[in-house]
Amino acid sequence: MTRRPIIIDTDPGIDDAVALAIALFSEKLDVRLITTVAGNVGLEKVTKNAVHLLEFFGKKVPIALGAARPLIKAPIDASDIHGSTGMDGFDFKEPKEDLVLKEHAVNAMYRVIMENEGPTTLVPIGPLTNIALLLSMYPDVKEKIDEIVLMGGSLTRGNYGVMSEFNIAADPEAAKMVFHSGVPIVMAGLDVGWKALVFPEDSEKLKDMNETGNMIYHLFQKYRGGSMKTGLKMYDSCAIAYLLKPEMYEVAETFVDIELSGSMTAGCTVVDLRGYLKQPNNAKVCVDIDPVMFKEWFMESLSKCK
Ligand code: BDR
Ligand code: CA
Repeated sequence: MTRRPIIIDTDPGIDDAVALAIALFSEKLDVRLITTVAGNVGLEKVTKNAVHLLEFFGKKVPIALGAARPLIKAPIDASDIHGSTGMDGFDFKEPKEDLVLKEHAVNAMYRVIMENEGPTTLVPIGPLTNIALLLSMYPDVKEKIDEIVLMGGSLTRGNYGVMSEFNIAADPEAAKMVFHSGVPIVMAGLDVGWKALVFPEDSEKLKDMNETGNMIYHLFQKYRGGSMKTGLKMYDSCAIAYLLKPEMYEVAETFVDIELSGSMTAGCTVVDLRGYLKQPNNAKVCVDIDPVMFKEWFMESLSKCK
């Protein structure tokens, strides 16, 4: 079986850590590069977290540092959700190996994509700053991107503002550039993330499943993306789930834009399911998920980790 080449752009992040575990141990995916972006916490911290995770997993995937701040707006963070380190709850060993490239994430992405004979899939699970820079600095890269499967946005309400989801709200200008780039986009947003839940009994199973499950169990004790009782939200795993088991989703092809100037709605995704805006479709939006299928897939995927 040929493994699908992907680049994960991430801001770990507790739910990012889980998504990375599943992707890195999947026999169907070939993670060629991990790029970091300021988001849940600052760039240095998220990069340190990525380095810790790769050392923990024993995976030698190169890491490249990307944007330390959004394109235009002032930085925000989500340390209230993930803790001040961005990945509170587990004591990682100091890494023996330095997998961090000297190259900037945007250049590294361009090189890795162009070096690959076939197309590469981008999987952004943080703010879209690096992806926007890549597409504007190197427009020729577009032809070699299979699709961008991202976690972000919402069809309904938000989790950062009334209407805005964190990854889009953190860099709305970047998100607008990406959605208008002409590259095929799959959007897995809050609507499916809210149904991709881990409950206490699942978390207990993870604790004794394997080393990765145990590490994740400890991160979950600090994660505030939902509550253990009503379900912890596995937002970023939804993007990986789309790559590995798309049949768990109901998908609508539609036009999506980003609100930049609304005094109460800036940073929200405008998902035009009914075609009011009379614009050509630019995204496949995951509008629903089978939560039972998600859970089975999630636990089975993590059981394949170290
Ligand atoms: C997104 O925001 C971050 O806090 C999570 O890691 C996820 O990528 C959910 O809105
Ligand atoms: Ca994230």
